[in-house]
Amino acid sequence: MMHQASIGLGITIRLLAEGPDVSAAQVVHDVTVGDYAHLDTVLAFAKDCDVITFDHEHVPTAILEAVEAAGVAVRPGPKALVHAQDKAVMRARLTAMDAPCPAHEVVADADALRAFGERTGWPVIAKTSRGGYDGKGVWKIDSPDQADIPFEELARPTSTVDGGTISREGVQIIAEEFIDFRRELSALVVRSPSGQAVAYPISESTQRGGICVETITPAPGLTDDQALEAQHLALRIAQELEVVGLLAVELMQRRDGHVVVNELAMRPHNTGHWTIDGAHTSQFENHLRAVLDLPLGEPGLRAPHVVMTNVLGGSEDDLTGALQHCFARDRELRVHLYGKSVKPGRKVGHVTCLGRDLDQTLRRARHAAGYLMGDPDA
Ligand SMILES: Nc1ncnc2c1ncn2[C@@H]1O[C@H](COP(=O)(O)OP(=O)(O)OP(=O)(O)O)[C@@H](O)[C@H]1O
Ligand SMILES: [Mg+2]
Repeated sequence: MMHQASIGLGITIRLLAEGPDVSAAQVVHDVTVGDYAHLDTVLAFAKDCDVITFDHEHVPTAILEAVEAAGVAVRPGPKALVHAQDKAVMRARLTAMDAPCPAHEVVADADALRAFGERTGWPVIAKTSRGGYDGKGVWKIDSPDQADIPFEELARPTSTVDGGTISREGVQIIAEEFIDFRRELSALVVRSPSGQAVAYPISESTQRGGICVETITPAPGLTDDQALEAQHLALRIAQELEVVGLLAVELMQRRDGHVVVNELAMRPHNTGHWTIDGAHTSQFENHLRAVLDLPLGEPGLRAPHVVMTNVLGGSEDDLTGALQHCFARDRELRVHLYGKSVKPGRKVGHVTCLGRDLDQTLRRARHAAGYLMGDPDA
């Protein structure tokens, strides 16, 4: 999707891909297949690039520092990116800048986790400091006898749905106060090296089984003051951490309306996929503009309501066939398929609907995504 945005900007993209079949490698011409955790591979790849950016945050800090030292711009830079890589570093920094966070503590073992729970009350959330994604590496610990679970899991090797492996070296367990949130929100901002920044309208995001399934923008029922509070918080974090490019601040909205930060991502984010069709400038284009220090584009909405629903691998593996039905039924439907083979739970695409009536827009998006997932009754 970043490649799509780069075409109109006249930018040539070179891709370092973990495999020859990954989605981006199917569309980018200049592809190097190699390991992003291997120093010489990344240095050789980066040699003639004007700027390096990312679509995930797993490239080790030391490698990015070496790329910078070799004279290639890395945006966002490793000093900012570490806050999206390491949740312990992120929690410490955000707390120091007085950004609202759950009570938290790095715990060395199950006993320390039990002590944290006794102090703050059960349940508690335990999470890995690094390498988590789609809710893997996050556990709700209901009682003291479950405190061993995260430490046992940490001892096992882990792999991604796309077949990549994630290192567990130096990974810590963080205990967090369980936030009994009303809902999850997402604040997306983009910041350029010269300091210009824009904020997208706040989205409500729904997670199921640790995976984002849907976003609604603007978040229904959010007051102007609450939206401004969330946007200001995200802009402040972007400025303090000197983020370049897109910053996604995942938020939990408490029942009193105030928000606390869940985590940060410094790349185009799933909760911003709606911007491709629903905003004047997509998150992908604004990310590229920021990375190149071009003036940023208007982030505002193109319609009163924008719903994005993820297409997760289900029983339907003939996605193209299902399009017949979806397109015939809804001429305004926007579909984005990622060229991935269908595996249960894997994000293989998303649909976006714009509309004036929220309920109807939700129904259209849910039906289309459901149909593409093999559920014609959705
Ligand atoms: N302190 C908390 N209290 C309550 N729920 C929480 C807390 N921290 C995380 N969660 C829940 O767990 C989900 C996953 O947490 P988090 O975003 O940290 O994990 P992740 O695996 O890095 O996810 P992602 O797919 O966004 O990379 C959150 O979206 C939220 O629903
Ligand atoms: Mg998350």
